[in-house]
Amino acid sequence: MEKIKDALAKAKIENTESKAQFKTEARVSSTLSQSVVSQKDIKGFPNTENELGMINYLNTPVIKLDSAHLEKNRIVAQSKSDVNSYSFDSLRTQILQKMEENNWRTIAVVSPTPQSGKTLVSINLAISIAQQPQKTAILVDFDLRRPKVATYLGIHTEKSMNDYLQDKAQLKDVMINPGIDRLVIVPTMKPVSKSAETLSSKKVTNLITDLRERYNSRIVIFDCPPVLNSDDAMVLLPQVDCILLVIANGMSTQSEIEETLHHLPKDNLLGIVLNKAEIESKAYYY
Ligand SMILES: Nc1ncnc2c1ncn2[C@@H]1O[C@H](COP(=O)(O)OP(=O)(O)OP(=O)(O)O)[C@@H](O)[C@H]1O
Ligand SMILES: [Mg+2]
Repeated sequence: MEKIKDALAKAKIENTESKAQFKTEARVSSTLSQSVVSQKDIKGFPNTENELGMINYLNTPVIKLDSAHLEKNRIVAQSKSDVNSYSFDSLRTQILQKMEENNWRTIAVVSPTPQSGKTLVSINLAISIAQQPQKTAILVDFDLRRPKVATYLGIHTEKSMNDYLQDKAQLKDVMINPGIDRLVIVPTMKPVSKSAETLSSKKVTNLITDLRERYNSRIVIFDCPPVLNSDDAMVLLPQVDCILLVIANGMSTQSEIEETLHHLPKDNLLGIVLNKAEIESKAYYY
């Protein structure tokens, strides 16, 4: 963890501890868990009742998720009995505050290198956001090289992003409601060839705009590929409002973190999630 802190300091990300750095690993203190759910903390929420009332999932297939499969894959945000869900609620509150302040509605979740926990953070965050009655969440699997959202959720569908990208299905036909109110998933079932070209295509640009503009109350989360392994993330980043950077303990070197931070636009870096952090025993209990 020290290496990550050094890299952040060297890259001049100031005040990361208090402003832009979120720990998601394992337990959080009761103090934190109690302070995150109060809506009075979330300034300036628009009145979205009518808008939410208009959202109609009648044509969206509902796929019931298997709770044992979710647990096995560390999808915890839906389970209030799981202490780890508090971490994501806390992350959600911080994220929504900052997004609200900046009128941001689309987030790209990225990391320097693979296996940092982007997909896990994206899914848990989307579930946690959907639990806010004023918000809806849509999670789009834009890791076109190694799509994993459907696998982690245990979703099998006939139509997916793959069909949409090939003009074989409309957006409404590839949306799924995973049995959680106010949450929609757009899964990608198979790797897509020429992924960077696809992500910079007019079709994807229009899709991102459409997803953003349709409802003010909607938060759109894009699970993305790592920044340093291909052009894909770099193609996507200018198209989204803000970026959530996931850095996992032991998964990226200091220079990889620095290089990533160098690539990311500082003005719309929403925050940094320190994942797979060591549990600093006493800090999490009292
Ligand atoms: N906080 C955590 N504690 C323990 N294991 C974790 C944690 N976060 C993620 N993992 C595990 O690490 C692995 C990678 O997670 P995930 O697929 O979310 O990462 P990713 O950044 O999306 O990877 P990729 O770059 O391949 O898409 C998975 O096996 C996941 O269960
Ligand atoms: Mg992933």
